[in-house]
Amino acid sequence: MTTVLFDGIKLLYTGDPEREEIEDAALVAEDGLVAWVGPAGEAPDADERVDVRGRAVIPGFVDSHAHLVFAGDRTAEFQARMSGVPYTGGGIRTTVAATRAASDAELATGAAALVAEMRAQGTTTVEIKSGYGLTVEDERRSLEIASGLTGETTYLGAHVVPSGMDADDYVRLVTGEMLRACAPYAKWVDAFCERGAFDGDQTRAVLEAGIKAGLQARVHANQLGEGPGVRIACELGAASADHCTHLADADIDALAASAPHDASGTVATLLPGAEFSTRSPYPEARRLLDAGAVVALATDCNPGSSYTSSMAFCVALAVREMGMTPLEAIRAATRGGARALRRTDVGWLRPGARADLVVLEAPSYVHLAYRPGVPLVHQVFLGGLLL
Ligand code: NIG
Ligand code: FE
Repeated sequence: MTTVLFDGIKLLYTGDPEREEIEDAALVAEDGLVAWVGPAGEAPDADERVDVRGRAVIPGFVDSHAHLVFAGDRTAEFQARMSGVPYTGGGIRTTVAATRAASDAELATGAAALVAEMRAQGTTTVEIKSGYGLTVEDERRSLEIASGLTGETTYLGAHVVPSGMDADDYVRLVTGEMLRACAPYAKWVDAFCERGAFDGDQTRAVLEAGIKAGLQARVHANQLGEGPGVRIACELGAASADHCTHLADADIDALAASAPHDASGTVATLLPGAEFSTRSPYPEARRLLDAGAVVALATDCNPGSSYTSSMAFCVALAVREMGMTPLEAIRAATRGGARALRRTDVGWLRPGARADLVVLEAPSYVHLAYRPGVPLVHQVFLGGLLL
């Protein structure tokens, strides 16, 4: 049993609602878990000491929405968009073609590189989706690769209907043979509920089949326009409705009513990198927060709509463009993400949680928004160990 005392913490953002911020703080980790947090003067003795010299400490970011198993890139599509071509999701098929043509090793190397990029920027928990294979074997191998990198794996066979296939036939495949091949590697099931992807009935069928197979639901909902996605997510007890860019009052009400005081509610996961990269209006975080919904922030890292791996960038966007306070944004990027993944062991620093923590090159987490684009991650500790 080794104990490590982190002290010299100017500001500790714990993420624990009972004691969310502590000035001049210390933290003790023991065997990979947080054993104690509190004012520096009251810290117990420990075997080792890490003096962070007046920097701020936050829980590692929890990026609850990412698409990391893919090949190719879509620079040309991005360039065209920046000249006024709208984003429709049609480019997903470009990535599907490149992904199908790639070897397992190429896909695994690319995904691992993105996870390493995320870790270096303070993300200590990441969710990874399939969805660029869209055949039984390409979805299965995508999830096998993802499961080598995280426990938070999501089966997104219902990303789009592949070219040349009938939609109903494809939904039968996604809810049948493909689900059986993918379920052993997946914790979650997801569907892109959107005009041009899957309608309400198809989304419901995919999620219900996944739930029957032992997976838990999360939904790509209301990204490009209003639709039934958010309400289906809430009805089926999905952990998260993701994007939430175009919301009717009834969607906000449903999310607020399901606000998870326990483990059963639906979190509104906002992905401002997608609005940035598609030059679209940002989600109305204030409407959600003021109504009482639980909000998470995530990157949506993917080669089409949001090719960023930076949670700090998303925090800065949320503060500057979405009316969130720095406190609301850091909360959404840590504990919010953990709630969207129904995890109680990450996203906060309180006794019993994993000692996944980030030392910032700053005296406060507020600098994540105040100094946008500046690499402020000084050190990352995973389970108490320096990365
Ligand atoms: O979350 N919305 C659907 N899927 C991704 C985009 C995928 C892509 O454009 O390649 C998203 O934004
Ligand atoms: Fe996504």
